[in-house]
Amino acid sequence: RVTRHYKFNVKLQNVTRLCQTKSIVTVNGQFPGPRIIAREGDRLVIKVVNHVQYNLSIHWHGIRQLKSGWADGPAYITQCPIQTGQSYVYNFTVVGQRGTLWWHAHISWLRATVHGDWWKADTEAVINQAMQTGLAPNISDAHTINGLPGPLYNCSAKDTFKLKVQPGKTYLLRLINAALNDEMFFSIANHTLTVVEADAVYVKPFKTNIVLITPGQTTNVLLTARHKPPHASFVIAARPYATGPASFDNTTTTGLLEYKNNKTSSLPNTKLPLFKPKLPIFNDTVFAMKFNKKVRSLANARFPAKVPKTVDRRFFFTVGLGILPCSKNEKCQGPNNTRVAAAVNNVSFVMPNTALLQAHFLNQSKGVFTTDFPANPPIKFNYTGTPPSNIMVKSGTKVVVLPFNSSVELVLQDTSIIGAESHPLHLHGFNFFIVGQGVGNFDPKKDPPKFNLVDPIERNTAGVPSGGWVALRFLADNPGVWFMHCHLEVHTSWGLKMAWIVQDGKHRNHKLPPPPSDLPKC
Ligand code: C2O
Ligand code: CU
Repeated sequence: RVTRHYKFNVKLQNVTRLCQTKSIVTVNGQFPGPRIIAREGDRLVIKVVNHVQYNLSIHWHGIRQLKSGWADGPAYITQCPIQTGQSYVYNFTVVGQRGTLWWHAHISWLRATVHGDWWKADTEAVINQAMQTGLAPNISDAHTINGLPGPLYNCSAKDTFKLKVQPGKTYLLRLINAALNDEMFFSIANHTLTVVEADAVYVKPFKTNIVLITPGQTTNVLLTARHKPPHASFVIAARPYATGPASFDNTTTTGLLEYKNNKTSSLPNTKLPLFKPKLPIFNDTVFAMKFNKKVRSLANARFPAKVPKTVDRRFFFTVGLGILPCSKNEKCQGPNNTRVAAAVNNVSFVMPNTALLQAHFLNQSKGVFTTDFPANPPIKFNYTGTPPSNIMVKSGTKVVVLPFNSSVELVLQDTSIIGAESHPLHLHGFNFFIVGQGVGNFDPKKDPPKFNLVDPIERNTAGVPSGGWVALRFLADNPGVWFMHCHLEVHTSWGLKMAWIVQDGKHRNHKLPPPPSDLPKC
């Protein structure tokens, strides 16, 4: 167990893609950003220094932050943003987690510039367009593999990700969906992948040609290279999965798998035959459902699945889009002076002006948040039917308060009110078990008896299927304030987010320690 120190200098850097040079926000000038390596039990001390003209904060996506909620990172939830010229030290221990997790900026759409897909337009302009019109945002101009779009885009052939393998060797690929708004299929031509881990939890290994990952999720796969180097190269491809007619960037990013020791490939001007993978059609929900069902916890003696067997608190949340009355200083283009919003149980979350965790810790909730977040939607209706019956939403900064160590069951029901997309719901501070999922309306009588309490997958991000539901269970053993939101950036900014407060326990080991002295001020 060691302490590992990192320094993140956040600064602008010129990066050229698709024949266009843009100044983007980077960490230490790198795009994609630097990798952090730690072992279980290690302490990470990461000093983030803000050299740009934007406020920022960094989130360590999927790290449980047991009793270190001050280091979680979502702006206005666990901390005020780090202002220009200021710094903050994120200090936390990696407890009981192994595999791949990732970090990203966690304020407004800044994530776009640190990771993910490529936008020709200025990110600021893209956000403004999505917020002011309440219409679907401009779509990205390319998807990327490690920041490289690949040869299917104009002016991009030289920016192609290449994976060079040695015959007979097995490789671990760490897949992260860092796209802002798209769930992705991933495949490598003529090679089978073995899924071994998801969201830093071991899974029962299974073989597949195609992996599906929703934004926020991570998947580790094993790739075994052929014993005899084939006289060919193989395309690595990723493209979105989407169920609705909504506009999205349905382009394919590609990379290349090449074999070392392949004599032909080293000769100049010899083109190896190229094999391409077959990806499902963009709306192949049957594939998606099947794939998600295959992902199960390893659940053996050494890595048991600690699924809560009983439930103390039950919640039923509808997630989806709705409409919000337009305020005076907005330009709204929705019907009857409304704008499109996104909500949980018809509450469109409003970011506070100060950090919720601080307000909670100091017992100063007044004027910052209220604790009346509804456990159920305001009225029952046919959530997946048309036409929808309750699309009006209200805005507010509402939270749910949970006693320490309560076990929670949360059903997330998509409402398919407008558009149709699955929502990758991400919970900070916990892993949850996905004990059930289905299409249509959740049935509180018939569905729970079918829940998997034996080897459900443990994750930090769950795809709520378009027109369907997922049921989650988790133990509220981590005192603090924990954000939960859709990992599609556009839905988050429209309000598809909320927060949980987990109270301190009685024992002194079950309390959130006081904030570090350099915690940024608002
Ligand atoms: Cu990966 Cu709250 O985010
Ligand atoms: Cu969403």
